[in-house]
Amino acid sequence: MAHHVPRAARGVIIVGLVFVDPESIEIPMAWLPLRRVPLPAATARAYDDWLQGLERELDDPSCDRNLLCRRILTEIYYPHLADADRAKLPEATRIALLQMDPRNVTLEPEYYHELDPDKYYRVKPLLWLWEMFDKSPLGENVHLGVLFRRVLARRIFRKCGKNFKAFHFVKLSFGYNIEVGDGVVVHRHVLLDDRGGIRIGNGSSVADFANIYSHTHDLVDPHLIETPTTIIEDGVRITYHATVLAGVHVAKNSMVGALGVVTRDTEPDTLHVGIPAKAVKKKPETERRKGPPDALATG
Ligand SMILES: CC(C)(COP(=O)(O)OP(=O)(O)OC[C@H]1O[C@@H](n2cnc3c(N)ncnc32)[C@H](O)[C@@H]1OP(=O)(O)O)[C@@H](O)C(=O)NCCC(=O)NCCS
Repeated sequence: MAHHVPRAARGVIIVGLVFVDPESIEIPMAWLPLRRVPLPAATARAYDDWLQGLERELDDPSCDRNLLCRRILTEIYYPHLADADRAKLPEATRIALLQMDPRNVTLEPEYYHELDPDKYYRVKPLLWLWEMFDKSPLGENVHLGVLFRRVLARRIFRKCGKNFKAFHFVKLSFGYNIEVGDGVVVHRHVLLDDRGGIRIGNGSSVADFANIYSHTHDLVDPHLIETPTTIIEDGVRITYHATVLAGVHVAKNSMVGALGVVTRDTEPDTLHVGIPAKAVKKKPETERRKGPPDALATG
């Protein structure tokens, strides 16, 4: 794999007495698959035990997800106040304790007219648990966070393939309108606005601070809204700070360069950059090396 020197960094380069065409200079890229990061065995066991217990509770048909969310958030934030006499607590603490229970909280998507209450109120406790976990001291722990969010995603999304990975501060709208294939990775601070539905194919990734939308407003009347499904095919890479607009079909193996805004369907196996994103080149047909197995894979 080689990388072209950016145009801005090019100039006339003289090697000995020979003029070298800067266009021909290539800097090799290093092959840097993810490292394995060990955890103390007792810690890894504690995480596994906690997550397995959570899965068992969620799989129990009698599980009340609101109460489960309230209990876990209280354990994380205010365990010493779980049984406190609320009347004796400072007013702001009483209000803070109310936030542990999703029934006391309203979330922005809840105000959207097209919301399906049956689907939404089933997943809302898990959406709130996900968000509040991320804001807690546990949230930036990659090992724990990826596994925790996977447990929730499998019960929030319409479909969640194998080994889904979400890093912290991913924001969802309804959650129940998302379908992801196997091996999908969603990085930090990504917005997955699934009002109209989002489908992400096998092996695709969405990098830090990217936005995927599936709703759009009329130019004049903001209450005129379209909610087309946005489709991201297999093997796509939406790179950092890029935005995909509602209803776009991002074709197989295509890539959106940093900060691009995708307003139209993309071409397969092609790099698209800029605003609006335009195809600039076909991806070369170089063999892709297989990296080591993902340490956070759970099948
Ligand atoms: C897509 C990317 C990897 C560039 O790939 P590349 O093969 O090196 O592409 P090139 O440098 O040959 O770029 C082709 C053309 O597109 C332009 N271009 C590349 N990236 C661009 C971007 N993000 N926005 C606007 N233009 C861009 C280049 O300037 C070049 O234009 P030119 O031919 O007029 O000089 C890079 O731009 C990018 O977005 N990198 C960050 C994303 C990333 O790597 N994410 C991985 C984490 S998931």
